[in-house]
Amino acid sequence: MHASSDGDIVADRAALFADLQDLLQLEQDALPAYAAAIAALRSRELREQLEVYRKEHERHVKALSAEIEALGGIPLPVPHLPTGLFKLAVQLLGLPGGDRAILLAFVSNEWQSREKYARYAARPYPPRLSALLNRHAEDEARHYDWALDALEGLGCGAGTAVGQATRLFARFHGTTADVVEAIGRSGLEAGARLLRPR
Ligand SMILES: [Fe+2]
Ligand SMILES: [Fe+2]
Repeated sequence: MHASSDGDIVADRAALFADLQDLLQLEQDALPAYAAAIAALRSRELREQLEVYRKEHERHVKALSAEIEALGGIPLPVPHLPTGLFKLAVQLLGLPGGDRAILLAFVSNEWQSREKYARYAARPYPPRLSALLNRHAEDEARHYDWALDALEGLGCGAGTAVGQATRLFARFHGTTADVVEAIGRSGLEAGARLLRPR
């Protein structure tokens, strides 16, 4: 981060605030998706693990909010509504197939979180903030890896056609969600129409 003039400092601060708010919204989107997954999972073991990860997301929300407040900003409690609905729609409507389907949707959310944190963590922020974002990226990578392992345990491992499709779907859906965030509601509606079960 450079500070050659007051204007640069203000611009840097505004960019940093926008980045942190973007990540906060990602987290706020994740929480209802967790609630939906926890409510729908049949396996108690899987549910309990998701409860643990949900607490980590709540910690992420607190840490990001504290950073925004330290910048003199107000953490906005408004999720990315289109993507939040999009993710919920995928989880609740789009995928028959029990716990596997829920984990499939979960994998894609965690993949998106991991990628987004990793992208932000690579930016030239102050070292303390980079360290925080890297820790969050590592948490998300752990959630993602756990979900892939759990799918392995349900017979959808990397060596199976379903397992390979899972990884592709995670990338496709995670990437799609990023695009939907970028283009907004019209994109959501088009995407939701494509994904609606027949
Ligand atoms: Fe998180
Ligand atoms: Fe996560």
